[in-house]
Amino acid sequence: MHEELKALLAQMPDEQRVRIAGRDFWVGHLQGQPVVAVLSRIGKVAAAVTATVLLERFGVRAIVFSGVAGGLAPGVKVGDVVVATELLQHDMDASPLFPKHEVPLMGISRFTADAAISDALAAVAEEALRDPVALVGQGAVDEFGLHSPKVHRGLLISGDRFVSTAAESEALRRNLSDALAVEMEGAAVAQVCHDYGVPFAAMRTISDRADDEAHGDFARFVAEVASRYSLALASAWLARQPAT
Ligand code: ADE
Repeated sequence: MHEELKALLAQMPDEQRVRIAGRDFWVGHLQGQPVVAVLSRIGKVAAAVTATVLLERFGVRAIVFSGVAGGLAPGVKVGDVVVATELLQHDMDASPLFPKHEVPLMGISRFTADAAISDALAAVAEEALRDPVALVGQGAVDEFGLHSPKVHRGLLISGDRFVSTAAESEALRRNLSDALAVEMEGAAVAQVCHDYGVPFAAMRTISDRADDEAHGDFARFVAEVASRYSLALASAWLARQPAT
């Protein structure tokens, strides 16, 4: 989201804008590491194009996705973080030609996130969430009820729908009982990275429960909570990387 990117750019001392395919790619450094920061845009196709440009034009060595998601599993609450171990497109269904959820001609329904990057993201998230007041301030903790936010690891599902009814999130839970959260891009970017053999990881701040209240205060949550989480996690993770 825009607010998340804004928070990252504020900490990049030297970013230069490169415009490709209607997107602004920001090339520079964060925590002394060379990075390209960009809005994925929304939805699987838009995010796949953004990922392809990162790989083809910038030759990035890994893609780390941060953003927000709707919680599906019972304990996944607003203000928690999900670090994906696997990603699946919940709206992919070429049955009966191919099994439901399988990407045709790939034989894959679940794309695996890079273990080393995901472990490191989960570790920095655990650390950051220990003190939510330091992370987002007392006001946001009270407003969004972030009293003991948790880190979850597991299946993240993606599709071209903002899930905003209890009936739809219930159907997703029924079909994909181990799904932790739902969003609109991750599995598409994971598929592109798989094709290129480049490591991929995703972390998502839970902004809603993918139910009838899912649209409420979304913008405020992104500005006050998710953007701070994204910056804290990206910075802490990059700070741990060896100097290049
Ligand atoms: N991103 C954040 N919340 C979401 C939801 N409920 N459905 C899809 N994508 C989301």
